[in-house]
Amino acid sequence: MRIFSCIQPTGRKHLGNYLGAIRGYVEGQDRGDAVYCIVDLHALTVGPDPAELRRSLYDTTAILLAAGLDPARCILFRQSDVREHTELCWVLATVASYGELSRMTQFKEKSAQHKQFVSSGLFFYPVLQAADILAYDTDEVPIGEDQKQHIELTREIAQRFNARFGETLVVPTHRIPPVGARIQDLQSPGKRMSTTASTEQGAVYILDAPGSVQRKFRTAVTDSGTEIVRGPDKAGITNLIEILSVVRGVDPAAIEREFAGLGYGAFKAAVGDAVVEYLAPVRERYEKLRADEAGLEATLADGAAKAHAIASRTLARVRAAMGIGAPG
Ligand code: TYM
Repeated sequence: MRIFSCIQPTGRKHLGNYLGAIRGYVEGQDRGDAVYCIVDLHALTVGPDPAELRRSLYDTTAILLAAGLDPARCILFRQSDVREHTELCWVLATVASYGELSRMTQFKEKSAQHKQFVSSGLFFYPVLQAADILAYDTDEVPIGEDQKQHIELTREIAQRFNARFGETLVVPTHRIPPVGARIQDLQSPGKRMSTTASTEQGAVYILDAPGSVQRKFRTAVTDSGTEIVRGPDKAGITNLIEILSVVRGVDPAAIEREFAGLGYGAFKAAVGDAVVEYLAPVRERYEKLRADEAGLEATLADGAAKAHAIASRTLARVRAAMGIGAPG
């Protein structure tokens, strides 16, 4: 079984990325043939500074390795190193409709955020994402809930392609964790924790200092009640229960029982301590990995060679099926 997913190199990775997705990438190494990609071409859609983009790519690579991705057990590579992604993006753009791309929630949100200049790359973003996935004959894509619509579009594109050109592409499914698929902002618990939309206090970054993590949880917005239970009118407390449940590896109901009768203050402090402890090994391993840029480059180059070998075979099938390129 092929497991494939990607992550953006922009900005700092946060607890939502970790609990919703990175955790699933690490587990994927034990469950199948795992391939992971850092999508610098997607990052270009919002015009990052070039030097900053390169730094962020190394930061993200080191975070993934520190979190437990093992180049001996998975393929880890940089999207722009494997040219097949852009070629497949173009051919799939001829199969995806303008209407369905216009309906993508993330396009609508991001184009509202970047009002001065909405690149057409931002519009094409989900097609490149479909190309990433379909180039690897992917069976399963570990993701957080916010990416579900993009995977549904990918399935739609693959099915339409196969119906028009014959069975060529594997139709993937998403794998969304039962708890932790949508970690909310600590200051605005009605909103998803996000690199671009969250404030400094609202997002917990994987590399935050322990004191800062504890402070962010201590000041997390909750409600005027007193009960530590999940509920539709208790977005803040529900989020904290879910975070603690994932970090401890227990059911959310077990957390509710354990903290019944305790005050919000003590609960928030306990969640902060548990998250600090959970992230500590990642923070410790990160510094050494990040300091060795040549080592990171070597890992990415090795990953790109292996990724290219897979993607080029898919592209050969796609070209033949569509009648482009030299025959045979
Ligand atoms: P990115 O880099 O924004 O996010 C990486 C992963 O983190 C998940 N995630 C969350 N999970 C739980 N709670 C949150 N608050 C939260 N915020 C983010 C995301 O769902 C994602 O799984 N478009 C993708 C990158 C991409 C991709 C792909 C993903 C490009 N091509 C192919 C899968 C397959 C993105 O922006 O991820």
